[in-house]
Amino acid sequence: MHHPQVGDSLDELDTPSMIVDLTLMEENIDRLMQRFREKKIHVRPHLKTVKSPELARRLLAAGAVGGCVAKVSEAEVMAQEGIDDLLITTEIVGKPKLSRLVTLIQHHPRIKVVIDSFIGAQELNTALHEAQLEIDVLIDLNVGQNRCGVLPGKEALTLAHYCSKLPHLHLVGVQGYEGHLQHIHSPEERTQRCHQAMRLLTETAAQLRFEGFPIEVVTTGGTGTAEICADYGGITEVQPGSFIFMDTDYRNALGPTYANALTILSTVISRPTPTRAVIDAGLKSLSIDSGMPEPKGLPGIEYQPGGDEHGILTWTKIADPAQAHLEVGDRIELIPSHIDTTVNLHDHYYAYRDGMLEAIWPVAARGKVQ
Ligand SMILES: Cc1ncc(COP(=O)(O)O)c(C=O)c1O
Repeated sequence: MHHPQVGDSLDELDTPSMIVDLTLMEENIDRLMQRFREKKIHVRPHLKTVKSPELARRLLAAGAVGGCVAKVSEAEVMAQEGIDDLLITTEIVGKPKLSRLVTLIQHHPRIKVVIDSFIGAQELNTALHEAQLEIDVLIDLNVGQNRCGVLPGKEALTLAHYCSKLPHLHLVGVQGYEGHLQHIHSPEERTQRCHQAMRLLTETAAQLRFEGFPIEVVTTGGTGTAEICADYGGITEVQPGSFIFMDTDYRNALGPTYANALTILSTVISRPTPTRAVIDAGLKSLSIDSGMPEPKGLPGIEYQPGGDEHGILTWTKIADPAQAHLEVGDRIELIPSHIDTTVNLHDHYYAYRDGMLEAIWPVAARGKVQ
């Protein structure tokens, strides 16, 4: 059996496979880094998108100050590969996870975490006390997403004062992620609502500083809002993740700001009727939580999953007959609708340039949800 290797033609790759157009990916990285370099804002990309230390290294080489991860288990994968200037952006709760965190920061003291509760802060402090370790923490603020986070203002100040009594925690900043605004199509509405969120975040940072807390980090922003956040003033770093590959959900909201650099390569395995083709990529290859993936370069042909292992392509009235001709054995690409949940389904990235495999990267943190 031939295992894919660097130098192979893309045509030799088995399907379904997750493939990356390196030229487009590198342009996405350069474009984003350039924008924030000009704005003098730190970029701490969210690595929950790529789940790959190799790609994290590329982002760092391009100018990122460190990375965000969502979970302790993702941090473990990154830290093992020497990427350990990390912010874990999700609250860490419960003995098993705290014990993993403590083990991790014994060797990787630059890892920072967020807190949003007295119980969470206190149990973190206790776990660190037992190991005689300390950690930098950020208060997580709810700036409108209504997920985690204390309310800006008084609640944040109360948690900060509580935190100051916990000797193993050092409050260094605030996080306020406006996830609910990322995909708003109207730039005016996205900007206006993002400004409201940034006002809550930066005002709370100012209040905390006024009360003597050394707030050095004010972190926020995803692919849809990072630039708006950066321009607001008072933000020190942004956390975009999806920009590196994009997806149709973001493209539909933001336009061609960044290119769709990742697709799922698949094969037509059956052609039962003139208006139905079946491909080998179903729910186990492509997520559909943000709508249907899009057949690339095939206007008028729509994808829907045909179960776990199959995808069904159907022809709409506007299908261009010249492009709509598909035979058993033809290979097509699907652009994911949601990049993070699609990447997490695959073992490897097959990165290519000019039709030839240039790199194969494991999705090393695939399935790391703890
Ligand atoms: C806390 C936090 N920051 C940043 C991001 C990055 O967002 P995106 O991948 O949309 O750029 C996410 C994504 O969900 C997130 O949860």
